[in-house]
Amino acid sequence: MNKQPIGIFDSGVGGTSIWQEIHKLLPNENTIYLADSANAPYGPKGKDAIVQLSIKNTELLLSKGCKLIVVACNTATTNAIKVLRDSYKTPFIGIEPAIKPAALQTKTNAVGILATKGTLSSELFSKTSGLFASNITVVERVGEGIVELIEKGALHSKEMRHLLNIYLQPMIEANIDHLVLGCTHYPYLIPLLKEMLPEHVKIIDSGAAVAKQTKAILKQHGLLNIVTLMPENLFYTNGDPAIMTSLLNATHTAEYLDF
Ligand code: SIN
Repeated sequence: MNKQPIGIFDSGVGGTSIWQEIHKLLPNENTIYLADSANAPYGPKGKDAIVQLSIKNTELLLSKGCKLIVVACNTATTNAIKVLRDSYKTPFIGIEPAIKPAALQTKTNAVGILATKGTLSSELFSKTSGLFASNITVVERVGEGIVELIEKGALHSKEMRHLLNIYLQPMIEANIDHLVLGCTHYPYLIPLLKEMLPEHVKIIDSGAAVAKQTKAILKQHGLLNIVTLMPENLFYTNGDPAIMTSLLNATHTAEYLDF
């Protein structure tokens, strides 16, 4: 049982930022990653469509024998994780914008959050935000167009810098000291964000916390793979495998799969 793979899915290639953290913490584990790039971005879609796509991805991962599923997509987590947990016995790990640590640590009482429309308008996000950030200024911006550029391999483009400038300006004006990344595609922007933000702004993403939670839940269910053999890490995309391979620093190769 414990040699079964961990399944990870995202609306596209962004969740590989989460895979990197999981692989770092759990190097013995076999993994299967699904990038639903043909349907990216999930952010502007309605809840029902996001739930249906999340079920499709889950079914495919379960058919490949996954013992636990990481929903490496903020939009899918905030809109679909409850349905997934109610429908399947398999444990699910979700990812939510880390608004709580940002709200607890801010000194300027202002934090920024960059996420998709689907995440910012979800019930789960407004609940978390209401619980932990009601006393501070939260400058929310929908990162419209960012996921599309990353999915096309235009991470380092002029257009990306132009969009980020538009989204970051109101945050800088509000004197934020924390920027929460609420989409798993965004950690790939960290070098650029550091260049564009004042030095004192701390960037928070949830990758390491998700990896820790994955380990804790595997342990709790007796599912950790303690055998130290060469693990198999498989990457499937219904988009362009070359773009995904480039984000994996060429340590792994993505394959096309029609799903
Ligand atoms: C998207 O598909 O719009 C972005 C994925 C995410 O929310 O993490």
